[in-house]
Amino acid sequence: MKIVCLGGGPSGLYLAISMKLRDPSHSITVYERNRPGDTFGWGVVFSDETMQNLKKNDPVSANIMINELVHWDMIDCHAHGEVERSAGHGFIGIGRKRMLQILHGRAMELGVNLEFEQEFNVDDLDSRFADADLIVAADGLNSKIRNANLDVFDCDIDLRPNKFVWLGTHQSFREAFTFIFEKTEYGWIWVHAYQFDANTSTFIVECQPDVYEALGFERMNHEESAETCRRIFEKYLGGHKLLTNSAHIRGSAWISFPRVLCRNWVKDDRIVLIGDAAHTAHFAIGSGTKLGLEDAISLARHLDSDLALPQALRAYQGEREIEALKLQSAARNAMVWFENAPRYVNAFDTRQLNYSMLTRSQRVSHENLRLRDREWLETYEKHLAGLALGKPVEQPVPPMFLPFRLRGMALKNRVVVSPMSMYSAVAGLPSDWHLVHYGALAQGGAGLVCTEMTNVSPGARITTGCAGIWNDEQEAAWKRIVDFTHASTGAKICLQIGHAGPKGATQKPWESSVSDAPLTQDGWEVIGPSAHPFAPHSRQPRAMTRDDMIRVIAEHVAAVERADRAGFDMVELHAAHGYLLSAFITPVRNKREDDYGGSLANRLRFPLEVFTAMRAAWPAQKPMSVRISACDWLGENGVTPEQAVEIARAFKAAGVDIIDVSAGQTSTEAKPVYGRMFQTPFADAVRNDAGIATMAVGNIFEPDHVNSIIAAGRADLCCLARPHLLDPNWTLRAAAQLQYHGEGVSCPLQYQAGFEQLERNLARAADMAINA
Ligand SMILES: Cc1cc2nc3c(=O)[nH]c(=O)nc-3n(C[C@H](O)[C@H](O)[C@H](O)COP(=O)(O)OP(=O)(O)OC[C@H]3O[C@@H](n4cnc5c(N)ncnc54)[C@H](O)[C@@H]3O)c2cc1C
Ligand SMILES: Cc1cc2nc3c(=O)[nH]c(=O)nc-3n(C[C@H](O)[C@H](O)[C@H](O)COP(=O)(O)O)c2cc1C
Repeated sequence: MKIVCLGGGPSGLYLAISMKLRDPSHSITVYERNRPGDTFGWGVVFSDETMQNLKKNDPVSANIMINELVHWDMIDCHAHGEVERSAGHGFIGIGRKRMLQILHGRAMELGVNLEFEQEFNVDDLDSRFADADLIVAADGLNSKIRNANLDVFDCDIDLRPNKFVWLGTHQSFREAFTFIFEKTEYGWIWVHAYQFDANTSTFIVECQPDVYEALGFERMNHEESAETCRRIFEKYLGGHKLLTNSAHIRGSAWISFPRVLCRNWVKDDRIVLIGDAAHTAHFAIGSGTKLGLEDAISLARHLDSDLALPQALRAYQGEREIEALKLQSAARNAMVWFENAPRYVNAFDTRQLNYSMLTRSQRVSHENLRLRDREWLETYEKHLAGLALGKPVEQPVPPMFLPFRLRGMALKNRVVVSPMSMYSAVAGLPSDWHLVHYGALAQGGAGLVCTEMTNVSPGARITTGCAGIWNDEQEAAWKRIVDFTHASTGAKICLQIGHAGPKGATQKPWESSVSDAPLTQDGWEVIGPSAHPFAPHSRQPRAMTRDDMIRVIAEHVAAVERADRAGFDMVELHAAHGYLLSAFITPVRNKREDDYGGSLANRLRFPLEVFTAMRAAWPAQKPMSVRISACDWLGENGVTPEQAVEIARAFKAAGVDIIDVSAGQTSTEAKPVYGRMFQTPFADAVRNDAGIATMAVGNIFEPDHVNSIIAAGRADLCCLARPHLLDPNWTLRAAAQLQYHGEGVSCPLQYQAGFEQLERNLARAADMAINA
């Protein structure tokens, strides 16, 4: 086969090598604009696993690299004049220039034709390269071949806001991959540094665009930029200079990262994308070269199979796009963490900053850090426990079992049973079902149990089965549940108060296969900010008048007065999920033209009036929370996570103690991106930007998730909904699994024997798994 490789970076060269290894009769030419010794960049990072893959594919080139690799095990994080060091991270690195030399040598040895100083253009595809059976577009980030066919390759390019520059230095960072956060008079700027050969290290400097502007980097040439960075980071450089080798970049040496995602990698059954041309991975997880080399192995393997060329190319894409997407999604979290780095450096001490940074991709969890460096993690657990308990502690405590206080309410641990409607009340009256259900949940060890959305009037219900708190009988029924919780368990109990608004008068979820299906008989008038139905099949709401607002505020106030008499420890105002108050907040549902519609401040006006009236009626020593939808999943057309921070600030100013950060359910058009802990980034932004406690919720289901979220300061409490439905003892089970039975674990004495047996059995199972 006649193969043309456009681009002689790691992907193109390694594809050529991998094809020749499989069939020396292929005719392969690599075209590259640079000379052999030219290269941008400094060192690249691999994992042991990548090296094993390379070794299996081509032991010759892999062994040369292995002999020259620089290894590190530690990560250092410098901030606030301190350094945190943790071990067990296992990286290997090599100079990009040296790696390319090794690949050049190997390619030539195998008979690949290398054509340097050869610029190619898109027109060449049908002229100069017309006789090629296969054209491999390995022309990197700014691929001409891809950019000329963005539609065909269904390409999405997202240019990220931060600015960074890739510098080098002869200062040694031999012991650890080093992160340095330094404050300038204009804001934070930081470094990712790692050594890649005997005397050279990569030194990437990054900052937010406003700091880049203010420091004047835009107007500097490459040398001036390097010198300015040297002055900022002087105390870490041991007298060494910062070096630049990005002469190929015109103007400022600083760049913004473009996240490239192509949904189609093949054109005309003859042109195929590989490496950075097809996808990019942010340097925060340093996997771009790894992806390119592994693409090359996969493409060569499929071309060498029994498949015809078009099928082989598609099979290659099918295999590799999943890997690329996985890495991109992990890289996305890491990249967004660095885009918000000032948030974390400002909010956290160096230890928590380091923990937050190490877990930034959400792929490295609490238990994973324990495997890497038990001693460091336990020191950190003791540090967190010391802060939470206000005194030094001898033994580490899993973060989820640390106490938490809101006003006069002391919680034993950080687990919350998330509000879940049971649709099992009659005329709003909680029944024996509710007593047994909430009783079991309160016995199960969670620090706080939230009730389902409990409505302020019959017309405020979602379904006929929704619970209420508008009459004496309901108040008494709730009091029975609260009294049981206080008398027999260690949990506190919170009443979620709400009004369904435009999503009211629907069937119970199990009565219709259509979600939010309206009641077919005995329905009631529904109200909302505007006369717009939630879904095409929904009842049309009546736009609220000022009199309606006054009545609804009074109903909420009556509800908190009843909640207090029933003995609840806390109340939560439901302002999420498209119900009445959420409908006011989101521009998707609120089309009013008076003082209650339009700007965010106007849309918040009625929810804040409701909250303020409730707060005034609720005892000062008892806390209040508000549940919000922090994102409508509609981009700029709905509430964005940035606006959620503003919403939280407004509620904080009105006296809210903690924001319960949920998302979505405000529009049938929403495009949520699900995944483990998928709404936690919103809780993180609200907590650390607005400076208010948060509860995270959404697909948090393992003890490891809760520990990681709390330890990283992404939220103060974690709400688990569905995991509690089949396992009310989720928290006790988590304690047994973590082999922890100290403070924060609240097991009924009657169940103690069961806890001890479970703890023993899980310890034995863990030992057997380790020794298997
Ligand atoms: C700051 C920074 C740090 C990084 N750190 C790491 C890291 O630590 N580890 C890691 O694995 N990756 C890292 N990367 C990513 C890495 O550089 C790329 O992902 C990797 O080089 C991709 O390989 P490639 O062969 O697909 O593309 P490239 O390496 O970009 O190669 C493309 C080649 O095509 C040539 N070319 C392009 N157009 C033409 C043309 N028209 N005519 C002739 N030749 C052309 C170019 O000269 C180039 O040599 C980093 C990237 C950046 C920006
Ligand atoms: C059966 C059920 C009923 C729910 N009812 C409510 C509710 O009344 N109020 C509320 O704010 N959220 C409600 N939710 C949403 C949950 O509180 C939670 O936000 C969501 O299920 C995501 O958490 P999870 O992944 O732990 O289940 C309900 C969820 C379920 C599964």
